[in-house]
Amino acid sequence: MIESGSSVLLVTGERSWEAVSKIRLYSGFFDKYYPTRVSIGTVVPELDNLIEIVKRFRDDKPDAIVAIGGGKIIDSAKVIAGLISCKSGDPVSNISKGVVGDYVPKIVAMPTTAGSGSEATSFAVVYHKGKKMSYNNEKLVPEEVIFSVDAVKMQPRNVLVSSALDATCQAIESIWAISATESSKKMAFESLRTIWRHMKGGLSEDCEAEDLIRAANLSGRAINISKTTGPHALSYGLTMVLDVPHGIAVSLLMSGFLKRHQDLPVMEEICKVIGFPASEAWIEMLQSVKPSLEIVTEEINHDTVEELVSWVNEERMSNNPIPIRKQEICDSFFNIIETVDLIRGSRAIEE
Ligand SMILES: [Fe+2]
Repeated sequence: MIESGSSVLLVTGERSWEAVSKIRLYSGFFDKYYPTRVSIGTVVPELDNLIEIVKRFRDDKPDAIVAIGGGKIIDSAKVIAGLISCKSGDPVSNISKGVVGDYVPKIVAMPTTAGSGSEATSFAVVYHKGKKMSYNNEKLVPEEVIFSVDAVKMQPRNVLVSSALDATCQAIESIWAISATESSKKMAFESLRTIWRHMKGGLSEDCEAEDLIRAANLSGRAINISKTTGPHALSYGLTMVLDVPHGIAVSLLMSGFLKRHQDLPVMEEICKVIGFPASEAWIEMLQSVKPSLEIVTEEINHDTVEELVSWVNEERMSNNPIPIRKQEICDSFFNIIETVDLIRGSRAIEE
């Protein structure tokens, strides 16, 4: 718990804050600590924006930084906490080297979505000058996590779907990741088994939010060890260039990877959970979940694919169980057109 009398910096989103702030669990917290609130209005955590916040609050030396929101907000809080603790050094180099100072303010995460599992990881995604960076340090794992079923249930359908797809993809990628361990695999399988029946059932209105929260947290703990792989590596450009929400972006790439990985021994166990052939089971799941697809497939052409390729995260790609050639990466992006058509139901699943 945060000691009474502590100075607390509260990091939230902008859009959903109005609704979420009415949740009793949170308002009780505000009454107790009178935190200073900053909101993150950017689509992704932008380093320049976070540096401004760090400059504003560094002299206040907050005892705790509390994040109420989804993965973007929790990642932003981690970056603020890490950079506030650094007495010297350039923020860009501190982030790329994973440097934090001796005293990192206590990070408390209150996730309002069930997806990224960021509350359980030591890394934060942040964007700088159009490039994705990862800030990684054990001291950035939130010390305390407070889950709210009400907050998750309150999320609009598109946020719920995208978050759940992210958690599902993270679980699968963690299972087949090169850096997977016995313990990460155990958590990833438990996550996948927990979330899959809800995904297959189309994430109906009455699906249990507790299960989604548990599955998302397990997928976060699993990737904290194993890291993600190909689908995540390719997904960032879809979000940055074509505005596709993160979880949906990864899910559109996943079916191709399930097909590409079909001969891996570990796929047998994955198929026991999701069905066989895995890539078709994946498309069927997407057809029942019906993610909102605002992606304009006409925008996927040779020019945009070149740009999407420039966004590919090499580090995550090198954690993929089989190497992927540049041509296959380009094909993965073009294949999204067919996947989107299949989800929209305009084409039957081909043999
Ligand atoms: Fe993710």
